[in-house]
Amino acid sequence: SRITCLETLDAMKRFRDSVPSHQKVALVPTMGALHAGHLALVEQAKTLAPVVIVSIFVNPMQFGPHEDFEKYPRNLENDLSILEPYHPLTVFAPSVMEMYPHGPSRTIITVPSMTTVMCGLGRPGHFDGVATVVAKLFNITRPHMALFGQKDAQQLAIIKQLVEDLNFPIKIIGVPTVRETSGLAMSSRNQYLTPSQKEQAAFLYQGLYAAQVLFENGERRANQLIHKVQQVLQSQNIDPEYIALVDQRTLEPIEVITDSPALIALAARIGQARLIDNVVLVP
Ligand code: PAJ
Repeated sequence: SRITCLETLDAMKRFRDSVPSHQKVALVPTMGALHAGHLALVEQAKTLAPVVIVSIFVNPMQFGPHEDFEKYPRNLENDLSILEPYHPLTVFAPSVMEMYPHGPSRTIITVPSMTTVMCGLGRPGHFDGVATVVAKLFNITRPHMALFGQKDAQQLAIIKQLVEDLNFPIKIIGVPTVRETSGLAMSSRNQYLTPSQKEQAAFLYQGLYAAQVLFENGERRANQLIHKVQQVLQSQNIDPEYIALVDQRTLEPIEVITDSPALIALAARIGQARLIDNVVLVP
């Protein structure tokens, strides 16, 4: 492959130091098992900066003890070949030892009011792991901008907040969710689904979409919008972990949408996969 793959902090530092100071650097953090959702981030990064770094690191710190860290799909060779058309591009794929040489990080970055709601309830510590590894990746790669998917809306909101609060000189860019034709949001975890489970999973978006239509027809009350999603999920025997209507920026619950963009978001287990999805409601 013509794609440069760096595996150590040393190699990354040498590469980063070699970039002329007038050249913008964009970072796309991922855990690999790349799909069209990731590639939308890479494509947008390529339009914004001459130097694009894609990190591929399955971060143990963001997985709970009973989660899928061990079975999370890993195939670096395949990821590199998927990235080939985007040459020139630098991949940063460190080992766990490079990232956590002394075992689990003793320093933890947390945004308490945003990490303990929604997905944070069912995945305690998850977003602390995300925030900490993203802060490390920012310091290791020193990007001018970093791109994140709207698919992980809570993650995106938390990272925007941490960058603002800790004064990282990095522009955070959100990229719209890439979906299958069925509406199912693309995810590395879709690999865990059987074909019939994939059909069932498409109703997560059908529910959110029904609420969006209701919203566009003037409905502004959270309970009504959430109820619409519930109805669609119930019709498919999907029992969601949560359905929440929150402020897009702060993730605080909203009862009536007034002037700021809201997020209607959910998580549900389908077969072996815990799936999330959301739509943005802009008044
Ligand atoms: P991962 O799940 O691999 O996702 C990497 C990036 O791709 C995230 O910003 C995510 O929101 C985005 N993404 C995934 N599916 C998408 C889709 N269907 N449409 C648009 N964007 C999509 O998110 C993580 O990894 C990790 O938590 C990470 C930020 C890398 C920290 O470890």
